[in-house]
Amino acid sequence: MPHYAYLNGRYVSHDRACVHIEDRGFQFADGVYEVIACIDGRLADERGHIDRMRRSLKELKMPMPMKRENFHDAIVRLLKKNRLRNASVYIQVTRGVYKRDFPFPPKGVKQTVVITARPFDFKNNEKVKVGIKVVTVPDLRWKRRDIKTTGLIAQVLAKQAAVVKGAYEAWLVDERGFVTEGSSSNAWIVTKKGSIVTRKATSDILRGVTRTALQKVCKDLGLKIEERAFTVGEAQQAQECFTSSAVALIMPVVSVDGKKIGGGKPGPVAQKLYASYMDYVMKGKQVSWKA
Ligand code: PDD
Repeated sequence: MPHYAYLNGRYVSHDRACVHIEDRGFQFADGVYEVIACIDGRLADERGHIDRMRRSLKELKMPMPMKRENFHDAIVRLLKKNRLRNASVYIQVTRGVYKRDFPFPPKGVKQTVVITARPFDFKNNEKVKVGIKVVTVPDLRWKRRDIKTTGLIAQVLAKQAAVVKGAYEAWLVDERGFVTEGSSSNAWIVTKKGSIVTRKATSDILRGVTRTALQKVCKDLGLKIEERAFTVGEAQQAQECFTSSAVALIMPVVSVDGKKIGGGKPGPVAQKLYASYMDYVMKGKQVSWKA
């Protein structure tokens, strides 16, 4: 476990870091979050994550509690205090502490800001080597999935359904039978014709920062992406399937609802994209900090 957490401007012992019971994050899930990978001291797409957090906050009618530079400094200081160069960094911002009532609290109530950093060995993630199993479940979420809110109960239930079936991720399926995304990742397939497909980023899904990075990576590799919805059946017939997220990065999928994909082994496209994405993080302009 890390030693320190950031809580409202202070670096406190992780074990004893507490938020009040009247915090609106606890009472209503009235908050947003971001997850940023720190790989060998490089914060992957920090700018994109902070931009998305600003947008999520705006959509929920909350201001940014502090400037981008202050977030950066807080993250770097937290990583340094915890002596971490490979970690997943979680930022959570809520509407603050006020007596429980649905409307917003009055002006002047301070937002709660929490940042934690957990060790994560991105470069030696065994799952990337063997791939993961995916099961599908109905998408029970609200209509603004483009906002990264801390209201994650549908995702919790989906992920648990996957775990119960011996899978790692759940792909969420809309009323028409199309995959929206994973419970904590974006969903991708590579068709038999070699087309790389992922769903269009509307309010049906979260516009993954890793997804956006992959679009750039694919462009540089001369690979075309088709932005459209695909069905579970199409995924099961695909040459390859994979997911993208700030934690799992590019994760090959080797079965969907028990149907083997690509002979049950990670496919060449996902492996190539994983390697190219790592290159993008290591060499890219988004490099923010080196330990
Ligand atoms: N989840 N879709 C959903 C529903 C997600 O929760 C996530 C990320 C993504 C991928 O977004 P990004 O590439 O920006 O990480 C897509 C994070 C990792 C989490 O909840 O832990």
